[in-house]
Amino acid sequence: MTVDVTSVRRSHRLLAGPLALIALALVAGSVLFATGGVAHGQSDLVSTNPADITAGELLFQAHCQSCHGYEGEGGQTSAPALTDVGAAAADFYLSTGRMPLNNPGNEALRHHPYFNTVEIRQLVAYVNALPEITGTNVYGPTIPTVAPLCTTDTPPNPNPTGCVTLSEGQRAYSLNCAQCHQAAGSGGMLSKGNVVPTLHNANITQVAEAMRVGPKPMPVFSPSDMSYQQMSAIAHYVQYLHRPANPGGLPISHFGPVSEGFIGVILGFGVLWFATRMIGNRG
Ligand code: HEC
Ligand code: HEC
Repeated sequence: MTVDVTSVRRSHRLLAGPLALIALALVAGSVLFATGGVAHGQSDLVSTNPADITAGELLFQAHCQSCHGYEGEGGQTSAPALTDVGAAAADFYLSTGRMPLNNPGNEALRHHPYFNTVEIRQLVAYVNALPEITGTNVYGPTIPTVAPLCTTDTPPNPNPTGCVTLSEGQRAYSLNCAQCHQAAGSGGMLSKGNVVPTLHNANITQVAEAMRVGPKPMPVFSPSDMSYQQMSAIAHYVQYLHRPANPGGLPISHFGPVSEGFIGVILGFGVLWFATRMIGNRG
């Protein structure tokens, strides 16, 4: 029995196209899901371990002191002093990749973090220890913890865990954040041309940190303006905004019509292309 090599080749070729398209669609899908998915969970408490502080000091001298000064006293460039900013600011600016800057004149924008989580923990430990090291003894906000989310939308009474609800979060968010970040957290522009970033990349700790730190031009929401309860409720609500309920249809990571069109094109053209190949091969 002989094998018809050309027909085997042809059927391979026939399959290769659709398989490649399916692979492409899968890759595109996973990229969309990956960008939609956010790391949740709390960062560890700030380390006061001397080994971490020393490791952080070495990293600081290599990557930060050229702008922020030898012991974070500032003044080298436009970079501010870090002696009293606190662990929340260090963790926020490092975990969102805003620091280190390449150039003091650059805008501190969100990037992929430059350091890994261990290094960030060490740098945060060092910045957190600066008030003691430099003797200013002025402590900025520490990395905030967030109260748990209630399992129902009415808090239990009594409420031993101090849980918060999404409705509380929505109310506080609409009052304090939506004017800049928009109702859906998509971001926008301020009058002076400052860009207000989307909130969809920020994990729950970063949202809480942003409120306590107030990365300029965002205002600070200190515990006297905004209670622990409200801060926690907003932090959960912003996570909820990443994945609101999806009545009807696939969410496709809320990328909207762009990604829907994109997937439509891949699948639609794939089917058309397959059909034309089938018809073509009959002839
Ligand atoms: C090229 C100069 C430069 C380098 C290097 C740099 N920074 Fe900065 N940093 C700045 C400037 C400028 C600002 C103010 C940016 C702003 O407000 O938008 C800033 C702001 C900060 C803030 C916020 C301070 C506040 O008032 O809330 C922190 C925290 C910080 N930097 C930490 C670091 C750490 C840690 C490193 C090293 C890993 C580092 N920076 C490296 C220039 C630099
Ligand atoms: C006056 C406008 C304004 C208000 C009000 C405001 N923000 Fe912001 N927010 C900003 C701007 C501008 C930035 C970018 C700052 C920067 O990159 O240095 C920002 C950054 C952030 C970030 C960092 C996002 C990221 O992915 O890096 C978070 C999180 C955040 N805001 C949450 C909040 C929350 C929660 C509230 C309400 C409690 C709030 N903001 C209120 C303007 C505002």
